[in-house]
Amino acid sequence: MISPHGEKLINRIVEGEEKKELLKKASQLKSIDVSYFDLSELENIATGLFSPLEGFMTEEDYNNVLDEMRLKDGTVWPIPIVLSVKKETADEMKIGEDILIKNQENGKEYAILHLKDKYLRRKEEEALKVYKTKEIEHPGVKFLYEQGDIALGGEITLLNRIEHENFKEYRLEPKDTRKIFQEKGWRTIVAFQTRNPIHRAHEYLQKTALEIVDGLFINPLVGKTQKEDIPSEVRMRSYKVILDKYYPKNRVLLSVFPVNMRYAGPKEAIFHAICRKNYGCTHFIVGRDHAGVGNYYGTYEAQEIFDQFTPEEIGIVPLKFEHSFYCKKCENMATSKTCPHGNEDHVFLSGTKVREMLSKGEKPPKEFTRPEVAEILMEFYRS
Ligand code: ADX
Repeated sequence: MISPHGEKLINRIVEGEEKKELLKKASQLKSIDVSYFDLSELENIATGLFSPLEGFMTEEDYNNVLDEMRLKDGTVWPIPIVLSVKKETADEMKIGEDILIKNQENGKEYAILHLKDKYLRRKEEEALKVYKTKEIEHPGVKFLYEQGDIALGGEITLLNRIEHENFKEYRLEPKDTRKIFQEKGWRTIVAFQTRNPIHRAHEYLQKTALEIVDGLFINPLVGKTQKEDIPSEVRMRSYKVILDKYYPKNRVLLSVFPVNMRYAGPKEAIFHAICRKNYGCTHFIVGRDHAGVGNYYGTYEAQEIFDQFTPEEIGIVPLKFEHSFYCKKCENMATSKTCPHGNEDHVFLSGTKVREMLSKGEKPPKEFTRPEVAEILMEFYRS
């Protein structure tokens, strides 16, 4: 089984007596209220999905990540994982203190932050280095600018789990997927990230990869996405129907990826790959414009970025795919690597075009989307 990133699967969850003790102490601690976004980052650190992180980044790690795409110990890590608060809040906190983390919506206690560092989040620099733009139209940049100015760094301890109401049976954590892969006897597993319904192009990449590995891990992102993206509930319905009808049951595992979308293109592709390595996957699909938005990144930039590291530093193998489409002359799915025909023979629809068709009640062609998936999407747009 592939090692987690940084060799050790992190577990920052306390239970039993230890948890009782900490909860007793918690009432005397200073507390901060955080958003659901931050809470989910916290839980992902605690379950080891973000291994080797054991907490929110200190300034040294933050600087190194921005400049070198590495933590201060040299481990590859492409994007900051930070907890931002307003300056007034940070001013009340002392380094070395334990801080109780509560959720701003329900007031519930979730975790303790062992405060090691507080520092200015250099937003403009972060925007340029992570997103390659400081344009506020970029959803990741917009979100960054909405955050507090001061970052709090330090290890965390999770006291209570988030009460997720949806996808209960599809919330496998790294420790669970690693066990399942072992039980199934899969030695090579390819992971697929998506924030979209599975269209024929996605299916083509997945099945092409599945020809050479033991198992396929379909891992749709269900954290924060932008409004234009189809809601995760609708997507999950479409995944279930397509898996049921078109995929071999014993070679596919579906589980949600409870991580917030950044739209950081290439850097997010590395981040996505590292998280899937923590789940125990050996291969990761990177197609065209992975985690991209608008025209901020080159079509294959998210593939090229992997070349900046040695294979050992990343650990998981990126499977790089060209833009894929249905070719009417070949009468199958293909890419320019396998099809000699021109654009006029290729069926390709942009996301905007598909949304437009669906909202007008038009069914996208079956060469683009399986009819069962189209039905679910049309129903969503009708309502
Ligand atoms: S992403 O933001 O999660 O990357 P999306 O769900 O569109 O977006 O894509 C999931 C994966 O499929 C990504 O690796 C992406 O590069 C790839 N992909 C999507 N459409 C195509 C296509 N037509 N050809 C090749 N790769 C594609």
